[in-house]
Amino acid sequence: MSISKTRLNQRLLDAEYAVRGPIVQRAQELEAAGRKIIYCNIGNPQALKQPPLTYLRQLLCLMEYPALLDSEAALALFPKDLVERVGLLRAKVPHGTGAYTQSAGLPFVCRAVAEFIERRDGIPADPRRVILTDGASKAAQAVLLAMLRNPGDGFMIPIPQYPLYSASLTLYGGEQIGYYLDEQHGWQLSEAALSRSLDEARARGVHAVGIVVINPGNPTGAVLSVENIRMIIAFARRHGLVVIADEVYQENVYAPDRSFVSFAKVMHDVGDATTPLFSLHSVSKGFLGECGHRGGYLELRNVPDDVLDQFIKLQSISLCANVPGQLATYAMVAPPREGDESYARYQRERDAILEDLREKARLLGEGLSRVPGMSVDVPQGALYAFVRFELPLGPGADAGAMPEAERAALIAEREAAYCLALLEETGICVVPGSGFGQPPGTLHFRTTFLPPRDEIEALVSRLGEFHVKYAAGPAFAGVTA
Ligand SMILES: Cc1ncc(COP(=O)(O)O)c(C=O)c1O
Repeated sequence: MSISKTRLNQRLLDAEYAVRGPIVQRAQELEAAGRKIIYCNIGNPQALKQPPLTYLRQLLCLMEYPALLDSEAALALFPKDLVERVGLLRAKVPHGTGAYTQSAGLPFVCRAVAEFIERRDGIPADPRRVILTDGASKAAQAVLLAMLRNPGDGFMIPIPQYPLYSASLTLYGGEQIGYYLDEQHGWQLSEAALSRSLDEARARGVHAVGIVVINPGNPTGAVLSVENIRMIIAFARRHGLVVIADEVYQENVYAPDRSFVSFAKVMHDVGDATTPLFSLHSVSKGFLGECGHRGGYLELRNVPDDVLDQFIKLQSISLCANVPGQLATYAMVAPPREGDESYARYQRERDAILEDLREKARLLGEGLSRVPGMSVDVPQGALYAFVRFELPLGPGADAGAMPEAERAALIAEREAAYCLALLEETGICVVPGSGFGQPPGTLHFRTTFLPPRDEIEALVSRLGEFHVKYAAGPAFAGVTA
């Protein structure tokens, strides 16, 4: 019997993942035909020339090919502290990188993760409650899958959100319960917005089992304040929700008046020993940008042993996370220490990457906010700007009078047309805001600020020129929004 799309799982057919959607496919076609494309659609730093950290690659290199440790000439390439460290680590990976590990991951890496959390937050962390994953995506999916028990169960997710959450909820048959982030107030969360979304969910018979918070935010670039995190934890406790704290951008904070504070720390500080917390981290972002290595971890708090066992069983069903990814996670959480030969270079490379990102966030944010009809703040963190733009909606569109679903569909269509025209005309590939969700009646696109610094200024001016021309273009002649 042949296979056709109609035989596939309907949930797969329904799932949408905008950051690799039709606009990106068109970008790839144009690229194949010889056009230069600037991929601002996805937070994939090394694809946009961010260099990998030497320390991490050297560690992986020696762990993958330990025969180098027997060659004096080869060894001369590596710092002494790293060679010593690899010597110790090899005993802890006795079967090498080609063998499966324990389901939760290599115990010494789980221990290093727990020590990292203790150092970062000044709170205790239990290595038995750390599970190493193939990137944070798998960690998020594990929690969603495990928690969705009954039809009608759902998760509160931010609007705008990273489409991993909406797509995975669709895949697993969970309900999306969107809560709006407040664009007027730097995309912070308000308790009123959370309560409203929960009430609306209840009214349509949906039962919230958890809340997802992305901090620093994707696509918003916002960094949550401690007060905001406290409010969210209290809200979750009051409503019996588990919390997924997606903290993959924790190293990407650029605003001088903001700093990253983890949910784990705030939960500890407020003395909440009951609200289940699932914290995610990844090697893909920060200053590592090792998206291809698929490393990350899930830390579970306020979760009893029998529940933990089920999460480990879930991981065991796909055996374990890939071992180079586990080792990349190790390099992330156990970097060289002061006094090590590797230290100065590591620090230099890390600082240069973060400084570059900070400057690019500023250039992009300030530049685009000067374009007539566009508004965006300088991103406080993460790797993205969620840019709002104004556009006449076109002939026959009296958007104010339309039912909400119709208006949302029109906006999604106009945004997609805009992003496609931007791509065709300038080679710049961004993602329509509707792929992330957005306040009703507004138009956005998401762009990264990852291209090299010398390209960012050109990118900003091309985007600006395009926008002004497009908004005044023939399609909209004489039409008002
Ligand atoms: C908020 C957020 N969470 C998770 C991920 C996925 O990260 P990973 O590469 O670790 O799976 C991303 C990737 O862009 C992200 O933006």
